[in-house]
Amino acid sequence: MQKQKISFDLSIYDSPQELPGEYEKLMSVAQKCRQQAYAPYSNFQVGAAVLMENGEIVIGNNQENASFPSGLCAERVAIFQAGARFPGVPVKAIAISAASGITKVSKPAAPCGNCRQAIAEYEQKQPEPIKIFMMGESGQVFAVSSLTDLLPLAFGNAYLK
Ligand code: THU
Repeated sequence: MQKQKISFDLSIYDSPQELPGEYEKLMSVAQKCRQQAYAPYSNFQVGAAVLMENGEIVIGNNQENASFPSGLCAERVAIFQAGARFPGVPVKAIAISAASGITKVSKPAAPCGNCRQAIAEYEQKQPEPIKIFMMGESGQVFAVSSLTDLLPLAFGNAYLK
């Protein structure tokens, strides 16, 4: 039996203002579009901004539904829209920001498991990894340099060949 340790580097910024310029802007887009989320049931608003290799920014926010499972997270609204609008263009980074009408979200919000799997599909079909920046309503930003850091041993199309 062998054991292998899988680890990753988490970068922690005290605020979005500490981020390199293009990612600070990306996070401010995520914060802004979070405010347009349709989240009447959870009162938890999430915004996601996808930076494409061609410089375009594609946004998404969570879209809830009275039939709860029919709603969709901000990250998948954004990444699917990016795939629809710019097929074949690599994704450089995704910024995510979450806030709540019930409590202050000061801890960075990481994408749910389904969204990690959805984003993994895009990372696997492009040469460079996708950077992920995560924050709550205010405060610290967590950053990883690849989606794989958040979803090690991910399932992918290699299994289907
Ligand atoms: N939500 C997201 O938009 N992204 C996540 O990664 C986690 C959860 C949304 C789904 C639902 O509308 C609300 O937040 C509460 O779960």
